[in-house]
Amino acid sequence: MKIFATTHARSLAREVAKVLGIAFARTERTVFPDKEKRIRILDKVLDENVVLIGGTGKTPDSFYMELFFLMDALKRAGAKRVDLVIPYLSYQRQDHLFRYGEAVSLDVIVKTLEAIGAKSLITFDLHTIKIPEEFNIPISHLSALPLFAEEIKRIGMSDCVLVSPDKGGIRRIKILSNLLGGLPFASIEKNRDLSTGEVVSTRVDGELFRKAFIVDDMISTGSTILASIDLLLEEGADEVYVMATHPVLSKDASLNLQNSKAKKIIVTNSLEVPEEKMFDKLKILSIAPLIAAELTAKDGSRKK
Ligand code: R5P
Repeated sequence: MKIFATTHARSLAREVAKVLGIAFARTERTVFPDKEKRIRILDKVLDENVVLIGGTGKTPDSFYMELFFLMDALKRAGAKRVDLVIPYLSYQRQDHLFRYGEAVSLDVIVKTLEAIGAKSLITFDLHTIKIPEEFNIPISHLSALPLFAEEIKRIGMSDCVLVSPDKGGIRRIKILSNLLGGLPFASIEKNRDLSTGEVVSTRVDGELFRKAFIVDDMISTGSTILASIDLLLEEGADEVYVMATHPVLSKDASLNLQNSKAKKIIVTNSLEVPEEKMFDKLKILSIAPLIAAELTAKDGSRKK
């Protein structure tokens, strides 16, 4: 098995390769003055099973083009099968028509990934549990919740509550509660204006305790998390921790989260956080061991 990666997934892919004890494969990239890319793989893959790990980086469009070209290069070089790992699946949030006249971006991504020959996909904490049903290839829908559970145990579980920042996250919070022996949970009533993106968190449903762990799938602008932190503190929580799988960290999210009253913002390396977006309160947990374990399990079941 050989592991390839798009530009912004290289350090994650190196970690996965290290856990598996295999080499991280070499590629060559040229970007032309008009920003078109030329991709070339340098290692032999004829008749081999390969893994391609994709990481979005700052620009999802550019990421997908790089992924498509790497995939094409691998197929043309004779790879037997290509298993994809896209820890954060960009364009998944538009998974249905919210308003007349919109495109369904997830549908376009799914069809394209299948058309270019992906044979399976490993991904993390998708926005909804229905998303895997959109694919015709096998999907391993993994989660960072076990990592968060361990982190909560480390921080301390006394007098605490898990909080979903919106109703859509209740299922996630219940799973985490089960992993932690039935820890209490609550949820927030949130409304977002679809045109302006403005978030208003109005009410906490459920009992609040001294320490609150907000858990979400992603932090993009940070609006959801910031509104939730303020509401929880207003409603009587003393300490707020934030956990989210995907650190999209768009706009001024990093600065605003650093300046927020949260004690710690805990995310994973499903997305690379560039140097300029790092901040003191940020802690990054690695999903590499989870990916390595899933790849090993898939490889084992294919050999049976
Ligand atoms: C929404 O349903 C998601 O679970 C996240 O809460 C949301 O996408 C985060 O976006 P932002 O950080 O821009 O509020």
